[in-house]
Amino acid sequence: MKDVYILGIESSCDETSVSIVKNGCEEIATVILSQIDIHKNFGGVVPEIASRNHVKNITIVLEECLERAKMHMEDIDAIAVTYGPGLIGSLLVGLEAAKTLSFVYNKPLIPVHHIAGHIYANNLVEPLQFPLIALVISGGHTELVLMRDHLQFEKLGSTLDDAVGECYDKVARVMGISYPGGPLVDQLAHEGKDCYSLPIPLDDGSYNFSFSGLKSAVINLVHNEKQRGNKIKKADLATSFQNVVVETLTKKTMQALKDYHVNHLIVAGGVAANQGIRTRLVELCEQNHITVSFPDMKYCTDNAAMIAAVGYYLYQDGKTSSLKLNSKSTSELK
Ligand code: KG4
Ligand code: ZN
Repeated sequence: MKDVYILGIESSCDETSVSIVKNGCEEIATVILSQIDIHKNFGGVVPEIASRNHVKNITIVLEECLERAKMHMEDIDAIAVTYGPGLIGSLLVGLEAAKTLSFVYNKPLIPVHHIAGHIYANNLVEPLQFPLIALVISGGHTELVLMRDHLQFEKLGSTLDDAVGECYDKVARVMGISYPGGPLVDQLAHEGKDCYSLPIPLDDGSYNFSFSGLKSAVINLVHNEKQRGNKIKKADLATSFQNVVVETLTKKTMQALKDYHVNHLIVAGGVAANQGIRTRLVELCEQNHITVSFPDMKYCTDNAAMIAAVGYYLYQDGKTSSLKLNSKSTSELK
């Protein structure tokens, strides 16, 4: 069979990324230009600044990717692009670049849902095995998804309010840690003691999550301690917080695997980099004879390789789009 090369484009938040992936599983080249250092100064992503920087970066990233892959646009079979969900201005930059390339080089255009991309980051490690349950944990999403085959996404539950990564970043902020604080809170969590009492969120037997109560509890705790003139023990707070998050995520995930008689678990999204979550899931899956896979660290946060990976399967299914394709800030994974 002829090899298929998909060029992926991702610009849904603050990373401008282009990648070329062969047959949905083999990364040829990926370039990611992160704007974290710019947004750090504002304590979070500023949408208008993000889109302006995508405009500045997209051509540079595209050219660099083709150069690293030693390929030309003529060698590409199709162009896959994140159409949503995400920041609308940011999405539009990647989408317009993809449409232009599709028009100029006469290549099929493939719309990709950002969360499908995160899930398929695991296909770059080893082929997905079905049925599987995907735990999607990122800055914007917390979802449990059942997949019986490629591209069949059945949402079992999701967050009712804040996403887990968002919760990490807000907790980090109140602790005086700069954006995005998730990785540092994770690091600190390994140095402290679990001595702050925090509420277990939405312990209701459903597959839904809720993190705003936990976030508020941490914020209130920090403010109360400050008012009393007490110093917060950052590492202890990080440990206590992370333990609650790990307990909540793993409990619901293991329950879903059991209820649906599924033996394969994949974890996806930026928070899949979390060491506490990785360690506990590996432990639980070993005990329950479940295979668990995590994306490579470089594919946890936003990147275009994951978009090109899922783009391959959409291309094989003929799921291409006309140039009328528009971006969507919100969109259900279907
Ligand atoms: O997937 P991603 O790049 O963005 C979205 O699609 O939302 O995820 C970024 C999120 C941020 O909230 C960041 O703080 C979080 O992932 N994150 C972590 C860790 N590494 C990244 N959160 C907890 N522990 C980590 N090690
Ligand atoms: Zn993402």
